[in-house]
Amino acid sequence: MAYNLLKGKRGIIFGALNKNSIAWKVAERAQEEGAIFTLTNVPIAIRMGDTQTLANKCNTIVIPADASNVEDLEALIVQSMEFLGGKIDFILHSIGMSPNVRKGRHYSDLDYDFLSKTLDVSAISFHKVLQVARKLDAINEWGSVLALTYVAAQRTFYGYNDMADAKSLLESIARSFGYIYGSERKVRINTISQSPTPTTAGNGIKMFGNLLDFSERMSPLGNATADECADYCIMMFSDFTKKVTMQNLFHDGGFSSMGMSFSAMEQYNRGCEDEEPDHKFD
Ligand SMILES: NC(=O)c1ccc[n+]([C@@H]2O[C@H](COP(=O)([O-])OP(=O)(O)OC[C@H]3O[C@@H](n4cnc5c(N)ncnc54)[C@H](O)[C@@H]3O)[C@@H](O)[C@H]2O)c1
Repeated sequence: MAYNLLKGKRGIIFGALNKNSIAWKVAERAQEEGAIFTLTNVPIAIRMGDTQTLANKCNTIVIPADASNVEDLEALIVQSMEFLGGKIDFILHSIGMSPNVRKGRHYSDLDYDFLSKTLDVSAISFHKVLQVARKLDAINEWGSVLALTYVAAQRTFYGYNDMADAKSLLESIARSFGYIYGSERKVRINTISQSPTPTTAGNGIKMFGNLLDFSERMSPLGNATADECADYCIMMFSDFTKKVTMQNLFHDGGFSSMGMSFSAMEQYNRGCEDEEPDHKFD
């Protein structure tokens, strides 16, 4: 169901690789809600993935850009404003990549060049997008910028590796830049902390299936899907959330407020049948 929530708004969406990508779902919903936008990704992802297919569906263009490269970002933002016919109202940063995770390096044995790459691509790129946009004065008043993050920024998750450090930095950038961009030009900047989601990046996490199951058991409302995340992003880009900024917003079915649930506890029911609870709330 569409509500015209983004009618007349212009955006840039980073990170739609294939139909499982969270950014893909956001692009589809943004179009349904009346927005126009450009899509962007790294050249290799455009060649190997389906970004162009999405662009055809959304009547838009794909502008190649490495989000860690300032010149690429300048060209992207200038070309987007030209194509869309004006300044930008929303940006989605939906980017994550860790060479340490890809190469199976343990957190206690990180390759530091890889770590720099993880931080640059997954977190500092958010600062670069904001800095370039601000210098070009590319975002309209009450514009909304979002990045996607994970609760491993606050708490330790087995196997999440140096992406946890990247997500902490990403969330901090949203706060630090949110103050500056908000007070100067009324641009709001937030992060959405999403449930584990079966995407290409998600499946790169060690024992991802187990994490998905644990998270589902622990979340009173169940894991949030990519489609539900897209709905939340649309709301955050809309005029209904104009005074929300510098926040890390949990979109996780309640996971982040849980300690233990019946459904998770049940997994550890080893020889204590006499302690079986009377009720289950799952
Ligand atoms: N999948 C999950 O479980 C989950 C949970 C919480 C948060 N997130 C976050 O959601 C975001 C989107 O990931 P996804 O799950 O949709 O996976 P995805 O693999 O579909 O998307 C990741 C995207 O990052 C892009 N990317 C990598 N390096 C880049 C660079 N240098 N410049 C520009 N783009 C680059 C990839 O090409 C890809 O399109 C990421 O920030 C991820 O950490 C994912």
